[in-house]
Amino acid sequence: MSLNSISHVKIAIDGPAGAGKSTVAREVARRLGIKYLDTGAMYRAVTLKLLREQVPLSDREKVEEVLKRTSLDVENGQRVFLDGEDVTAEIRQPHVNAHVSPVSALPEVRRRMVQLQQDIASRAPGIIMEGRDIASKVMPDADFRFYLDASLEERARRRQKEQRERGLHLSLEEVAAEIKERDRIDSGRDDSPLTIVPGAFVIDTTTRTFDQVVEAILNVVRGNRKE
Ligand code: DC
Repeated sequence: MSLNSISHVKIAIDGPAGAGKSTVAREVARRLGIKYLDTGAMYRAVTLKLLREQVPLSDREKVEEVLKRTSLDVENGQRVFLDGEDVTAEIRQPHVNAHVSPVSALPEVRRRMVQLQQDIASRAPGIIMEGRDIASKVMPDADFRFYLDASLEERARRRQKEQRERGLHLSLEEVAAEIKERDRIDSGRDDSPLTIVPGAFVIDTTTRTFDQVVEAILNVVRGNRKE
């Protein structure tokens, strides 16, 4: 791709929890000078709102009603404001981890999030978005589609390290069990399950360094590698 078209590139990154999507996507965005959006953070913020309002997920009308009066803003791709309040730290807490997959399986929630994400994408010249349904649903017209994966053990190790840095001390087994359960729900739901779309570049990050993964993506985008 030419330098000019790179500033307008649309890149989709999908994959399960702990595959390294956020850190890698943020760096690729920085290197290419394009916008970055962590869509998981948006599902997390909605989950927090429904938890705070104690909405039973079976009450779909109530869920719709709460969604209608919820405002969600994402700054710099990752800083999340829920009804004006900065909830960036709280959405990474265990109570949100435990409920985010069932919440994001609700079609009402997905419809609203996809609409917001598509609005953000349409306003950005170039963007890299990461989540579970980016290539399949949010940006089916993306110029490049990547699917990042890693072994469950490695993903659990990474999440455990991240959580330790935030002062949360969970055993590797606990983190692995939570990720496995989220994988099961995210991949098994009816509405836009996590999937590898045709034409996606699949990158197994288990034994690759952060720099290697970033370089692999940049090489594809810059046209230095064909798969
Ligand atoms: O990437 P993450 O772990 O922060 O995502 C949290 C949850 O949000 C994940 O378990 C499933 C859901 N999600 C989704 O359904 N679709 C997306 N595009 C992004 C996240």
